[in-house]
Amino acid sequence: MSALAATTGSSAPAPSGKGRVLVIGATGFIGRFVAEASIRSGRPTYLLVRPGTSGCASKSNIVKLLHDQGAMILHGLVNDKEFMEKLLRDYEIEIVISAVGGENVLDQMNLVEAIKAVGTIKRFLPSEFGHDVDKADPVEPGLNMYIEKRRVRRLVEDSGIPYTYICCNSIAAWPYFDNTHPSEVLPPLDQFQIYGDGSVKAYFVAGSDIGKYTMRTVDDVRALNKSVHFRPSCNYYNINELALLWEKKIGRTLPRVTITEDDLLAAAAENRIPESIVASFTHDIFIKGCQINFSIDGLGEVEVCELYPEDSFRTLDECFGEYLEEIKENIGGVKEEGNMDKEGIVAPKPSVGAIAITA
Ligand SMILES: NC(=O)c1ccc[n+]([C@@H]2O[C@H](COP(=O)([O-])OP(=O)(O)OC[C@H]3O[C@@H](n4cnc5c(N)ncnc54)[C@H](OP(=O)(O)O)[C@@H]3O)[C@@H](O)[C@H]2O)c1
Repeated sequence: MSALAATTGSSAPAPSGKGRVLVIGATGFIGRFVAEASIRSGRPTYLLVRPGTSGCASKSNIVKLLHDQGAMILHGLVNDKEFMEKLLRDYEIEIVISAVGGENVLDQMNLVEAIKAVGTIKRFLPSEFGHDVDKADPVEPGLNMYIEKRRVRRLVEDSGIPYTYICCNSIAAWPYFDNTHPSEVLPPLDQFQIYGDGSVKAYFVAGSDIGKYTMRTVDDVRALNKSVHFRPSCNYYNINELALLWEKKIGRTLPRVTITEDDLLAAAAENRIPESIVASFTHDIFIKGCQINFSIDGLGEVEVCELYPEDSFRTLDECFGEYLEEIKENIGGVKEEGNMDKEGIVAPKPSVGAIAITA
């Protein structure tokens, strides 16, 4: 069994209304946003970190940063049912948020069994953070991930565990079809790849807002046993509009290359994991319109802006502005926004680091 000792924090009762949160996957792309938002919300926040993370400098750095912000670190595996049961009991966890990656979706089956056995968890948010997997129907290999996410959903529902499914749509970034955690890569500086005719719209949500609104839902009774869809109207763009927005930022136009439906299907059919999964989701979003081809009016679903009309989302315009700042900081000779010429900006190769399984 793995170590069950938090590196900081105490077992003092959590302040009322601020139930203890366990975040699983905080060293990952989405989990980090959620962990930061949980800490910021003032809730006692525990992070389940896989043993061996200390061998990876970037991951141990994330753990240290979150720990410095007040998170309590626990080491272990989510698929270890006995361990998870003990952890949930010992630390009196009330809210469990999982952000395990696409390849580990089924690791959550034992977690669900542990939550059921403990019986005191007030809300479970399984690793979703993309599309409504019961509605969307991507081609393979993306479909397989959705089938696994559906299996987790059915087990949660059959177990009577209180849940919320976060359907946050796309992360605010250029949606590269073939690689990377997209928000960690700059939008294009050489050419745009336009999917189909570029007219199918999608919703783009900043990572910090995914974290923030996820945390708003965790004790909101209106989100109990519901899918929460993120559809901020300010971030509703098709890829042609996205290209125009970025061109306005960098002050020059870029050539467009069409990636056809067949190109995306061929990239999916190559079955290179995880790139082909990203291609199948890109096809589902920008050709089939999976984010917008249904209305949110079922009994089991709510829209986040309707829940929190007083709150505002970070706009894609702001997010693209940050990419521009990043370019200015990292690359010499960049001119002011709206005043760049071809020589004023150097196109860095997008760093293909961690590869995202995006939705
Ligand atoms: N909407 C979007 O644009 C978007 C983008 C990306 C992802 N997503 C979705 O968000 C969710 C998370 O994906 P991600 O890309 O953020 O994942 P990720 O970067 O691969 O991170 C996965 C995290 O889960 C941890 N983990 C995996 N298996 C575990 C286990 N058995 N026990 C404990 N921890 C475990 C990993 O730990 P280690 O650090 O030890 O590996 C890591 O912290 C997925 O459902 C994915 O489909 C959505």
